[in-house]
Amino acid sequence: MSHRIYLLPLWLRAWHWTNAALILTLAVTGFSLHFSDPALPLVSFGTAARVHDIAGIALAMLYSLFVVANIVSGNWWQYVPKPPGILTRCLIQARYYCWGIFRGEDHPYPPTKEVNFNALQAVVYWFIMYFWMPVVVASGLMFQFPEFAPDRFFGFDGLLPVALVHTLGATVISLFAIAHIYLGTTGVTVTSLFKMMITGWHEGK
Ligand code: HEM
Repeated sequence: MSHRIYLLPLWLRAWHWTNAALILTLAVTGFSLHFSDPALPLVSFGTAARVHDIAGIALAMLYSLFVVANIVSGNWWQYVPKPPGILTRCLIQARYYCWGIFRGEDHPYPPTKEVNFNALQAVVYWFIMYFWMPVVVASGLMFQFPEFAPDRFFGFDGLLPVALVHTLGATVISLFAIAHIYLGTTGVTVTSLFKMMITGWHEGK
C-alpha cells in the first residue's frame, strides 16, 4: 500500500523551480558566451551577455533568499552530512543506484519528515548549494563589478583566476543538474519525485 507524507513547503518549491529556470538560462547563455562563434551563435553575443548578466543578478538575490530561508526554517540541517557511518550509507546508496534499483530492491533510506535526504543527497546537495553555488555567484559578481576582483594574481591579470573558477563551478553545477534530473526519475514511479517538487507530497511504498 502506498503512503504519502507532506515534505516540502511552498517557499522551498517556489525557490527550486525559479532556481532551476535561472540556472538553465545561465547555462545556455554562458555556454553560448564561452564558445562564441559570430558565424554560428547559439544565442547572439550581445543578447547572451545581457541575459546572462540579468539572470546572474537575479540568481545572486535568489541565492541570498535561499540561505536566509534555510536558516529561519531550520531546513539547513537537512543538508548537513551526519556521521557516524556516513561513508557506509553513501556506499549503500550508490550501490542501490548502480545495482539494486535495476533488480527492483526497495530504497535503502526512504525520506521521512525528520530526515528528508539520504546520505548521498546530503553530501552532494551540501557541496553544490553551500560550496559551488556561492563560488559561482561570487565570481560572477566579480565579473560584473571588476573593481572587487584582485588587480593582479601571481603576475597575471586578476580576472584570470575569477574566470577559471567561474567556468569550473558552472561546469560542476551543469553536470550536477544532468545527474540530478536522472536521479529525479528514481521515485516509486518515474514522475513521482517531480510531482513531489510541485505539490510538496512525497509518495512512498
Ligand atoms: C530542470 C531542472 C531540475 C529538475 C527537473 C529538478 C528536479 C528535482 C527533483 C525531482 C527533486 C526532488 C528529489 C530529490 O530531492 O532529489 C529536486 C530537489 C532538489 N533540487 Fe532540483 N531539479 C532541477 C534543477 C536543480 C538545480 C539546477 C539545482 C541546484 C543548482 C537543484 C537543487 C535541488 C535541491 C537542493 C533539492 C532538494 C530541495 C529540498 O528538499 O530542500 N535542482 N529537484
